[in-house]
Amino acid sequence: MTMSETVWQSLALPALLLSPEDVITAANGPAEGFLNRSAKALVGKALPELVEIDGDLGAATGRVRRNDAPLTLHETSVRIGPAPDLRCDVHISPLGGGVLILFSPQDIAGRVDRGRSSRSAARSAIGMAEMLAHEIKNPLAGITGAAQLLSMNLSGEDRELTELIVAESRRIVKLLEQVEQFGNLRPPQRKAVNLHDVLDRARRSAMVGFAAHMTIEEAYDPSLPHTWADTDQLQQVFLNLLKNAAQVGAQGGKITIRTFYELSLRVRRPDGSGGAVPLQVEIIDDGPGVPEEMINNLFEPFVSGRENGTGLGLALVSKIIHEHNGWISVDSIPGRTVFRISLPLAPREDSNKKPLQDTELRT
Ligand SMILES: Nc1ncnc2c1ncn2[C@@H]1O[C@H](COP(=O)(O)OP(=O)(O)OP(=O)(O)O)[C@@H](O)[C@H]1O
Ligand SMILES: [Mg+2]
Repeated sequence: MTMSETVWQSLALPALLLSPEDVITAANGPAEGFLNRSAKALVGKALPELVEIDGDLGAATGRVRRNDAPLTLHETSVRIGPAPDLRCDVHISPLGGGVLILFSPQDIAGRVDRGRSSRSAARSAIGMAEMLAHEIKNPLAGITGAAQLLSMNLSGEDRELTELIVAESRRIVKLLEQVEQFGNLRPPQRKAVNLHDVLDRARRSAMVGFAAHMTIEEAYDPSLPHTWADTDQLQQVFLNLLKNAAQVGAQGGKITIRTFYELSLRVRRPDGSGGAVPLQVEIIDDGPGVPEEMINNLFEPFVSGRENGTGLGLALVSKIIHEHNGWISVDSIPGRTVFRISLPLAPREDSNKKPLQDTELRT
């Protein structure tokens, strides 16, 4: 066997060689399995007869030949006969007038397995939702695009219908993005955090954006010790709470951010974990209050009282706070809604280096 034959035989990915006319001139072992035909049956066939992809395969091979440069089609759907679509990266390289094509499948089973090696079973179940969200977004983009094309030749009522398709598809995309965000939640990277720093950042971003129509007042306890938290995730929590308050708030309405210390509060979970949660943050608004029928399952996913709400905001907040061994509660009457977050203290050495030095001096 020559060197190139050895390389060809040892390739683990399905590989095909094509003539300048895109006719198959060679297929390796994995390609036989991939295309479900023997090499003998494959040679001499035009590739587009056997394989369909998302884009135009002929145009891609043509471009590779013309530019004499390789090309990769990332995460392309590949259709082989009646089998369901496969997601593949398709690598196309110029090779002596013809081209070499490698298919690198990214199928769901492969992805789940990879996920499992680094995550617990529970997290891979979340990974499944995230993956599904990702998979739905692609065909949805196709639907939106097709509706937009259709609408160009329509008028009046018919156009309203295609606009409805586009608007509703956008809503699904937004929902899916939130599901993805939910699934992407990493275990918190905790460190000693000054809550007021995080609150200030959330407040500033709210004021220039979704809460520009309101005033936000601070009622901070300046002596509040550090908490033990993931800054980015906490920021997300406060932003979601501020956003909800701003969404129900009238022009000129008021949001108050209050912090204080309350030593007596403790969290006790069924598994025995938990402890003191003395650091309190309250986001208070003067809006209409949480609808009574929702108050008992407010933190469940998909519970929403807003027309365009996905109902994932508070579910995410609750998940983050629980992973921080904290507590969230709500108290609402018309004119005054209070969301309270209770968090644990940072371990002493981390929140403040000075007391350590003091003890060292004393001994
Ligand atoms: N401060 C508040 N005052 C009155 N009602 C509220 C307040 N915060 C939340 N709600 C109610 O709780 C519902 C659920 O809130 P959540 O943040 O979970 O979802 P959402 O805001 O509807 O959608 P999303 O946050 O996913 O975009 C809201 O739709 C709203 O009806
Ligand atoms: Mg919300």
